[in-house]
Amino acid sequence: MSRKIHIVGNWKMNQTLGDIKNFFTDLQGLKGQDCQTWVAPQFVHLAFAKEYAPSFVKIGAQNCSHELTGAFTGDVSAAALKEMGIDFTIIGHSERRAFFGETHTILNQKTKLALKTGLDVIFCVGETLKEREDGKTESVVQEQLDEGLAGVAPNAKLLIAYEPVWAIGTGKTATPAQAQEVHAFIRQHLSTLGHKGQDVVILYGGSVKPDNVAELLNCPDIDGGLVGGASLKSSDFKALCLNR
Ligand code: PGA
Repeated sequence: MSRKIHIVGNWKMNQTLGDIKNFFTDLQGLKGQDCQTWVAPQFVHLAFAKEYAPSFVKIGAQNCSHELTGAFTGDVSAAALKEMGIDFTIIGHSERRAFFGETHTILNQKTKLALKTGLDVIFCVGETLKEREDGKTESVVQEQLDEGLAGVAPNAKLLIAYEPVWAIGTGKTATPAQAQEVHAFIRQHLSTLGHKGQDVVILYGGSVKPDNVAELLNCPDIDGGLVGGASLKSSDFKALCLNR
């Protein structure tokens, strides 16, 4: 099956309402491009983003709760997101793992619940610099996949994002060869877990920019980018979609 190219903007804790309105007005020009364009704003901006986004843009969350309802002050339910017409959620971003202590168990619960609720899930994996230097990249990624995806149905609407932690927001991009090697490993490992590895969209994330997107996306197992910094301005986002 041919996998479609996806450019996914992870806006993290950025953008004002004015920025969002301008961004989406400017993005109208991308209509008809053969590229899936997805954007994940902050929770409070989701409804506003849905209102202003062109219809070809999918809007998603950056996280969701491990429970569907109940006494979880400050959390946001996948069911509430779905009810609002939200299309997808990112789960397991390294910033969630590092700053919010999200464990394999919690991430597995979130992933299963979000998928069951009908959201597409972008499940993030990736090693730290120390882990790479210690030769542990594959074992770390394998553990994140094994634990995070335990019990996830093979036909789930699941995308994977490989984001080496040392490349996120640092301007240090993995070389296409480094990224391709891990992507191929992920694809093969997904198959051993019972998923249709060849069909799963696997995004690369970590300092993707308009000037390096093409060389990364030319790799056979890289199907798109999960982009932070370079997704904030519409000019950069459009260039990512056009240059790839
Ligand atoms: P970056 O972030 O593009 O700013 O490196 C990517 C991400 O964290 O998803």
